[in-house]
Parts: sequence; C-alpha cells; structure tokens
Amino acid sequence: MLVLGFNGSPRKGFATQSLVEKVLQGAEQKGAETKLINLSKSNIAACIGCLACRKDGVCSIKDDMTDIIADIKTADAIVIGSPVYMMQMTSQTKAFVDRLFPLLKPDFTSNVKEGTKAQLVFTQGQPPESFRTYFDYTESMFKFFGFATQKTFAVGNTRAKGDLDKQEDAIQQAVEIGSNLV
Ligand SMILES: Cc1cc2nc3c(=O)[nH]c(=O)nc-3n(C[C@H](O)[C@H](O)[C@H](O)COP(=O)(O)O)c2cc1C
Repeated sequence: MLVLGFNGSPRKGFATQSLVEKVLQGAEQKGAETKLINLSKSNIAACIGCLACRKDGVCSIKDDMTDIIADIKTADAIVIGSPVYMMQMTSQTKAFVDRLFPLLKPDFTSNVKEGTKAQLVFTQGQPPESFRTYFDYTESMFKFFGFATQKTFAVGNTRAKGDLDKQEDAIQQAVEIGSNLV
C-alpha cells in the first residue's frame, strides 16, 4: 500500500506540510509506505495547452511531473495539501493539478487505478469551514479524475509557524484520516 503526500505550500515545514505529514503518519501506523513531495521544490512547469495528452495520453513536457504521474498511477492513495491563497489553492498546487490532465484518457475516462483514494487537506488563516464551497468544488474535480475522493479536511487559524501544533484535535483528526485511507 503506497500513500503519496503533496505539499502545495511554498513554506517548507509550516502548517500545510505538517498537516500532510500527520495524515501520512496515520497511514504509516496502518502499515502503508508513504512518500512526501514538496511541490514548490519540484520542477513542475505550467501546462502549455498543447493537448498532446489528449492524443496519446502523454504530456509533452518532461519535468518532475513525468515521475509524479507514474507514481500516482501505482499509488493506492494521494494526499494533496495546500494553504488557501486568495480563497483558492496555491499556484504551485494549481500547476500540479493542471498537469494531472494525462490522468484522463483521450475519451476522458480515467487512467487512475480503480479505488485510488484522494484526500484534500487545506490550511488557512480563517476558521476551518470558511471555504467549504470551494473545497466541495475541488473535490468534484478529483472525482472527475477518477479518484475515490474523500471529504476535504481543513484547519483554520494557521498563520505563523507552530500554529498547527497548538490544535491537538485537528492533529488527531488528520492522523485518523490517514489511517482510514488504508
Ligand atoms: C498570498 C496569501 C494569500 C492568502 N489568502 C488567504 C485567504 O484567502 N484566506 C485565508 O483564510 N487565509 C489566507 N492566507 C493564509 C494562509 O492560508 C495560511 O496562513 C496557511 O496556513 C499558510 O500555510 P503554510 O503555513 O503551510 O504556508 C493567505 C496567505 C498568503 C501568503
């Protein structure tokens, strides 16, 4: 069982990375192998709209997304974490999501292994439920990709380093969410 975690925050070691790590920790406790990928440290170019993936299913850009797509196809679950920036995911996360287009075959059926789970987690300055409409919308996109998409988990009031550590309930929930992925 392989669970991949993606940190869409440019701030390494801050709330979003910690939150993704807590979810991965829960999965590890159930025996899963896990891997964390920091999107802002990865070489992920923006989609150029060439539509090569619509013809032969393969992206024309050769960068870190080549291996990431291959890893996602073998994973049993993925965890995508992003801070809320301007009421949405960060640009690093959005570039990654756009480049997931090859997960859809030319006929728009899914290339994702059946049953692969997707768990979205967000951190934000505002209280946790402030952006639920956006989270639901984003979940529907991951369903369209073919993932068994779980309910998004959001943690609020995380501005400074260490703000997540003060929220023991949220940390506990994140670990449980991770263990339920396995
Ligand atoms: C450019 C920018 C835009 C932000 N926009 C929002 C926002 O719209 N709503 C919100 O609640 N928090 C917003 N925040 C706060 C972050 O979502 C919050 O501090 C988050 O936990 C940061 O994650 P990190 O510590 O992992 O980097 C914003 C922060 C930045 C830097």
